[in-house]
Amino acid sequence: MIGNFNGKHILHGNQFTKEDLGQVMKAAGVFEGGLKNGQTYDLMRGRILATLFFEPSTRTRLSFESAMLRLGGGVISVASGATSSAAKGESIGDTARTVSQYADVIVMRHPQIGSAAEAAATATVPVINAGDGAGQHPTQALLDIYTMQKEVGTLDGIRVALLGDLKNGRTVHALVELMALFKVELILVSPPQLQMPAEIVDGLKKKGLSVHQTDDLMQAAAAADVLYVTRIQKERFSDAADYEKLKGSYVIDNHLLEQAKKDLVILHPLPRVDEIAVEVDAHPGAAYFRQTLNGVYVRMALLALVLGRTGEVI
Ligand code: NCD
Repeated sequence: MIGNFNGKHILHGNQFTKEDLGQVMKAAGVFEGGLKNGQTYDLMRGRILATLFFEPSTRTRLSFESAMLRLGGGVISVASGATSSAAKGESIGDTARTVSQYADVIVMRHPQIGSAAEAAATATVPVINAGDGAGQHPTQALLDIYTMQKEVGTLDGIRVALLGDLKNGRTVHALVELMALFKVELILVSPPQLQMPAEIVDGLKKKGLSVHQTDDLMQAAAAADVLYVTRIQKERFSDAADYEKLKGSYVIDNHLLEQAKKDLVILHPLPRVDEIAVEVDAHPGAAYFRQTLNGVYVRMALLALVLGRTGEVI
């Protein structure tokens, strides 16, 4: 059960096979069931997670820390780059090498693309990428898949519309890699300036995925089984005026949802700014806060898998 993950780094959405995905989903399901039954775990007794976050985070850091504590482990953390030696000019490699001596697993978020891989090169414990700039966010993608499977029942044969900043959004960059493992039909909806990078789209097509690119939200929303909304990534814009032009490009509200399928599932990695109106929260398919909770189960699964500790429960 633990074979593919034990001691491994989690860096990129393209590193998973369908079988790997099945292992994560299965373990997450076991932990979800356990927690809902009031079960407590001590699988990680004596183990330490270090969270190194050099960019803002609420959900990713706290759900990883919650997951480790729920497994009976401990947590040490650098909650801001400004409080660690990175502020003194220390390299990612030296930081990772150092933290490996204090912890059994590292979860890292950093503004630079490739930073998690750089940390993994010197770390002597598993490194989990919690977002490397506009690059990848594989653990979010795993919890997104877990959520879709729970909310829709399957990923095969469904139509998923990804909306928003597909150029800079690391969650969607990782998610499409996992979607390529299924027979999903993808609709990529963005302003022309924020399209998914061409090399990613080409890679998906090569893998046989049906991909359609458009800027027409109304049409995509009417066709979709799942609508995955993302925030325009303000922090990735070098020119604030460009952001101002694009912010508010798309807003999901009840009026738009009148055009959608009745059982549409709406997801968002969060935080939202203005792209989903608060009135939508009452829609039965508005699953974004359920999605957030699923992050704890999936991250419990990942921590247990990379440290080889699922054997006792699965
Ligand atoms: C996302 C991120 O940090 O990439 N947030 C998250 O981890 N849930 C999405 C975002 O910030 O827009």
